[in-house]
Amino acid sequence: MNITVIGTGYVGLVSGVCFSELGNNVICVDNNVEKVNMLMDGHVPIYEPGLKDIMNANMKAGRLSFTTNIQDAISRSNIIIIAVGTPSLPNGEANLSFIELVAREIGSYMDNYKIIMTKSTVPVGTNDRIQEWISSLTNHPFDMASVPEFLREGTAVQDTLYPDRIVIGTHSERAVATLKELHQPLTDQIIVTDIRSAEMIKYASNAFLATKISFINEISNICEKVGADVSRVAEGMGYDRRIGASFLKAGIGYGGSCFPKDTQALIQIAGNVDYDFKLLKSVVEVNKDQRFNVIRKLEDALGSLEGKEIAIWGLAFKPDTDDVRDAPAIEIIQRLLEQGAVIRAYDPIATENFRKEVDSPSITWEERAMKAAEGADALCVLTEWKEFMEVNLTDLAAHMNQPILIDGRNIYGEDQIKDTSFQYYSVGRPG
Ligand code: UGA
Repeated sequence: MNITVIGTGYVGLVSGVCFSELGNNVICVDNNVEKVNMLMDGHVPIYEPGLKDIMNANMKAGRLSFTTNIQDAISRSNIIIIAVGTPSLPNGEANLSFIELVAREIGSYMDNYKIIMTKSTVPVGTNDRIQEWISSLTNHPFDMASVPEFLREGTAVQDTLYPDRIVIGTHSERAVATLKELHQPLTDQIIVTDIRSAEMIKYASNAFLATKISFINEISNICEKVGADVSRVAEGMGYDRRIGASFLKAGIGYGGSCFPKDTQALIQIAGNVDYDFKLLKSVVEVNKDQRFNVIRKLEDALGSLEGKEIAIWGLAFKPDTDDVRDAPAIEIIQRLLEQGAVIRAYDPIATENFRKEVDSPSITWEERAMKAAEGADALCVLTEWKEFMEVNLTDLAAHMNQPILIDGRNIYGEDQIKDTSFQYYSVGRPG
C-alpha cells in the first residue's frame, strides 16, 4: 500500500518505519526542514532502541522516504495517517491546532479517494471535526478512521510490530477492509468499532494504566506505615488474571508525554459534558504528590537540606529514553534547589534535554554515575537505568560523604543492601 504519515514525532516516525518494514511504500512528512534533512541522512532525532537500523534498511530498500512536500506525498498515497502532536493547553484540554492545520492541508490537496487515519490521541468527536475540515475543502470522496496508537517509548518498535491489539474505528466498510489488510501482519487481535469508541479506548486505556500506578503508589505509602512490602503485595495481586501484574510497580509516579497529558484531557472531556471524573482527578493528585516522598525521605535522613550535596541518578521519565517531558525528576530537583541543596546529577542520555527544563549554578552535570555520588550527603535514584542496578554498593557507599540512599524505583533488593553501610529508603518496603 502507499502510505503518507504526517508528523514525524514518536508515533508518526515509528509507525512510518514499521509500516515500511511490512513492505508498504511510506512517505513521512514533517514541516520541520531540519528534522526532515536529518532523517533523510539516516539519523533518528529521538533515542529509541532498534529504530535507526530498521529505518535505514527500509530507506535503502526504497520503501521509506522523508519530505516536507505534503502535497506531493498526499497525491502519491491512498492512506494518509495523521500523527501530529496534541499538546496540553493550559486548562488541560488537548490543543488541536496542529490537527486542524493538517486536516485543511489534506482537504486542499485531495485528488482521489483516500483513507484518512488518525493516530494522534484526540478527544472524542475530533475525527468528526477532521472530516468536516477536510470536506469543506474538497469534493473527492474519503473515509475517516481512528486507529489509536498504544506504543511505549523505549519499546516502541517492538510494541508496534507485536501489538496486543489493533483498534480500528470507522463507519466505512471499505476502510475496514483496507485497514484490516494493512494491520493483519501485526496481529489477529483486530477490534473494529465506531469512531468515537476508538477515540475513547485510547484515553480510557491510558487513564486506567495511570490509575493502576497511582493505586499501587498509595498502597506503597500505606505499606510504609504498616510494615508491609509493596513489591510482595503487587506480586500477590498480579497473579490474579483479573488484575494482572503489569503497571503495579510503585515508585515516584508516572511522567512522560502521555499519561499526564491524557489524564488531564480525559478529565476535561468529561467536564465538557458535565461529568465530574472524581476517580481520575484523584489519580492525578496522588501522582503529583508521590514524587515529593523523595524529599520527605531526604529530610527524614538529613534534617535541613540547606547546603547538602544531593546526588541524582536518572533524569528521564523512564529508562531507555532521553525524554524528560513531565519527568518527576524536574519537580524533585526544583524543590531541592528551593530548599538550598546542591545537586550533582547524572543520566546516561537525558542530561542535555533535562538542562533545557531546569538549570542552575547549584547543579553540576556529571558524566559518570560514580562521579555524581562522590562526596554526596545522599543519593536519590529517580530512573531505573540498568547501569544503576549493576554498581557495587559497597564501593558506592565508600565514595559518599554520608551513605544515604533514596531508591525511588526499588531497584535494589534487601540482600544487596544488608551488607552495606547504607541508610536505605525504598518505596513501600520495610527499610
Ligand atoms: C504510555 C502507554 O504505556 C502506552 O501504551 C501509550 O501508547 C503511550 O503512553 C502513549 O499514549 O503514547 P509511555 O508514556 O511511553 O507509554 O511509557 P510507560 O512505559 O507507560 O510509562 C509511563 C510512566 O509510568 C513512566 O514514568 C513509568 O516510570 C511509570 N510507571 C509505569 C510506573 O511508575 N509504574 C509502572 O508499573 C509502570
